Amino acid sequence: MPSINSEKHNSKILFVDDEISILKSIKRGFLHSDFEVFTAPGTIEGLQILENENIDILVTDYRMPGMDGFQFLKIVKEKFPAVNRVILSGFIEKSVAVESLTRGLASTYILKPWLNEEVEEKLNHILNIRRILKSNKLLHIINGIANLPVLSNIYHEFMEAVNNEKSMGEVSKIVQKDPSIATKILHVANSAFYGLKNCSSISQASVTLGLDTLQDILLTISVIDTMKWNSDQTKHLQDIFIRSFIMNSLLPELYKKKYGKGPYKNFPSAGLTYDTGKIILLQYYPGRFNSIIGNKNKNRGMEFYESELALGFEEISHQEIGAFFLDYWNLPEIFVETALFHHNPEDASDQNRDIVRLINLIDRLIDYILAGKNTDTIDLSLFKNDLISDKTLKEVIPTIKKKLSEHVSIIVHD
Ligand SMILES: [Fe+2]
Repeated sequence: MPSINSEKHNSKILFVDDEISILKSIKRGFLHSDFEVFTAPGTIEGLQILENENIDILVTDYRMPGMDGFQFLKIVKEKFPAVNRVILSGFIEKSVAVESLTRGLASTYILKPWLNEEVEEKLNHILNIRRILKSNKLLHIINGIANLPVLSNIYHEFMEAVNNEKSMGEVSKIVQKDPSIATKILHVANSAFYGLKNCSSISQASVTLGLDTLQDILLTISVIDTMKWNSDQTKHLQDIFIRSFIMNSLLPELYKKKYGKGPYKNFPSAGLTYDTGKIILLQYYPGRFNSIIGNKNKNRGMEFYESELALGFEEISHQEIGAFFLDYWNLPEIFVETALFHHNPEDASDQNRDIVRLINLIDRLIDYILAGKNTDTIDLSLFKNDLISDKTLKEVIPTIKKKLSEHVSIIVHD
């Protein structure tokens, strides 16, 4: 992975807020920063600056007279898609901010009142991620894909409904709005991946598979075209599905044990998408995917990422490739970060680091078990961490084993 650096740069940041005192304090606060700071007291002035300057990040207030933050972000997304969008929001508007995040209008939010150092660190982190995702080597790989997969708007609507705890029926209705998507979902649900037989309705699929799984399929069908797949590809996709399924069932449980609800509560499906890069490799670069797997199998016990490193794909691994697409699809920052750093969790932002570390831990446990190593004599020091206790670790292992065996049997029976 390209190293995160703190070299001097003159990135352009635009702050939009109708409170002049806030803009003044921002200007003062960032006087000695590496950023070139622009401020606008309203959305019209903000749009003018966006027109004339190459702005990297827009940080905007949410509640403003005239056009509100939501409308403003919508316009900016359409007209200036390369600008990273961040919401500066008061605590009361936090839920509205989350709604904007799930709709792909902003990547993250900063809560008022803020500490300048924290905001500066956050902006630097966003810029570093942008640098990684825009590196020539990565773009070279992405440009090799003739038609970039597009994420349906339905995905964002679906995420929003799930986050708002809408009923199964309401969520299913969203998917049914697009018959071609509904058909593709049923195709995957009825295939070997999930082992459903003759499931003919989305409602039935959502009840049997669960909303998490449905969301996972929804994202995956944007990326893949299973109709043309060979059985090897299908088998590898099953492995990726099972992994994300186990991840997303354990992650909230373990996170809650340590933190109660916390920020992760807003994105209960963050565990589903962390390995998206593998799916992209499988679909668009099957040769490379197979060589990674081949090398992994030759060196029994080696993990997928280790095999990538050994083959010289360090800078552009499945982490960068997956993160590129999640960012391209305007998924919130937490999704991009979990994909980008799940094998290097210490590089994640302060805000998301513990979630990424937890994903890393569960991912390594799954690898350990899949490698057929004896879990009775497991050396817990390999998984030593301050997120979950040894006792919980010991309890988690049989749970993973059980989930793996349940799903392996589904595949075997098909
Ligand atoms: Fe991975």
